[in-house]
Amino acid sequence: MKRVAILISGGGSNMLALVRDMAGDHPARPVLVGSNDPGAGGLAKAEALGIPTAALDHRAYASRAAFEADLADRIDAARPDILCLAGFMRILTPGFIRRYQGRMLNIHPSLLPKYPGLQTHARALAAGDTAAGCTVHEVTADLDAGPILGQARVPVLPGDTEDSLAARVLGMEHRLYPAVLRRFAAGDRTPVLLS
Ligand code: GRF
Repeated sequence: MKRVAILISGGGSNMLALVRDMAGDHPARPVLVGSNDPGAGGLAKAEALGIPTAALDHRAYASRAAFEADLADRIDAARPDILCLAGFMRILTPGFIRRYQGRMLNIHPSLLPKYPGLQTHARALAAGDTAAGCTVHEVTADLDAGPILGQARVPVLPGDTEDSLAARVLGMEHRLYPAVLRRFAAGDRTPVLLS
């Protein structure tokens, strides 16, 4: 049984989707939910499900490296095989990434390599794209550019706003990320493609 740690910064809807799927014949189980924000709503949801949590306020640290050192200690104490970033909004240093590269996944709300970084939905709308979506990729030192493990497409509809498009993409994230984690935990890196 693979052990999965999940890092969040906010409401944790992707974390919930992953946790709910890790049941029955799923080859993995959640062992920790961590956050850089003690106020992240997802922490209470994880606690309610009996999952150990670790909340470290990144603002309380003198440096990014000091925060990441404590975070890595808390992660390693849970002995995870896989680390899932799910709405985790901190940029990680190459040193942290090196500790987990090859077993660290992230979900990004665009069809990478289009729109790495922030404001992905506003950029897709501004470009007049007719399709948008989300990507699960391995985390490497290049931001939002690691090997792709899954993608899901949604249509951009006339009259879409940033919020309506974000909601449509988020719903697809909740399908894509669990499907990718199931496959990845079984040792299969064949990309999952949904639409
Ligand atoms: C969402 O914008 C999602 O697209 C991205 O992270 C944000 C928060 O997601 N992956 P969550 O509800 O905290 O999982």
